[in-house]
Amino acid sequence: GGLQVKFRAKGKIYFGTCADPNTLNIASNTNVLKKDFGQLTPENSMKWDATEPSRGNFNFGNADTLVNWATSNGKLIRGHTLVWHSQLPGWVNNINDRNTLVCVNLRQNPLEMKVLISSKLQTTVIQNHAQSVAGREIFNEDGSLRSSVFSRVLGESFVTIAFQAARKADPAAVLYINDYNLDSANAKVRGLVNLVNRVNQANPGTIDGAGTQMHLQANGAGGAQAALNALAAADVKEVAITELDIVNASANDYTAVVRACLNTPKCVGITVWGVSDANSWRSGSNPLLFDRSYNPKAAYTAIINML
Ligand code: XIL
Repeated sequence: GGLQVKFRAKGKIYFGTCADPNTLNIASNTNVLKKDFGQLTPENSMKWDATEPSRGNFNFGNADTLVNWATSNGKLIRGHTLVWHSQLPGWVNNINDRNTLVCVNLRQNPLEMKVLISSKLQTTVIQNHAQSVAGREIFNEDGSLRSSVFSRVLGESFVTIAFQAARKADPAAVLYINDYNLDSANAKVRGLVNLVNRVNQANPGTIDGAGTQMHLQANGAGGAQAALNALAAADVKEVAITELDIVNASANDYTAVVRACLNTPKCVGITVWGVSDANSWRSGSNPLLFDRSYNPKAAYTAIINML
């Protein structure tokens, strides 16, 4: 079996990757998706600049293509991303009053998104235990809240507002907070854990899960287990590795990360950020499990052998 089948046999939910229409058009890529991966995350098509480029004008063309492909091929879907400082359309960045940002964007926008994404995404979510990502990359490296249009206008309350809006829009979705550089038990991990605990103590059950992206450097997997342990100790039901890629993709680095998830009961899955080095956002560092001809690399074989 491929990665998904073997990972599931170990009690995990998914071994996933990212995709979008541009990579779904490549037959050698979709062959790998069908065989090895059980979950798809839209690489760009559900970001705010893609879904609502100007206020009130929604575009779900690419997102629907991804959802349709995943649904017809029996793949789970991980939504990505609802509220994030990056890849925002200019009109959101320029909002500076609280009511507009809360009422129009954080409260209403997810509701509209749900209506417009339509029953397609909703049934997929319900039937396939899909996951939604609500808060992303909101911390500075020292664990404090990062400056963004959201934190500047609303302070920390935007986190609760966004999660409550997402919950209302889709009660079946599993809602994650997610960030990068959560690769060891560092200050940023502590900041995230403290925020999650504050939010969930004030409003129990607001945040379901914590995700660590894990865009790692070569030999950078040494802290993965400590990071997952710390995240899993927060007041969350589950944790996940959400965007894994590793410079040079050594077998040792990859197996260390997979082992860390296997050893963490709350870790439900791993998403690698792409299939082939040819299509990676870090293409120059060859960070993925398949080479430019879509053939499995040594790290792939090492993972298969350990599962
Ligand atoms: C990246 C995509 O892979 C690129 O195609 C795009 O140009 C920029 O965004 N953290 C995230 C992802 O949360 O959404 C980013 O994806 C990589 C960093």
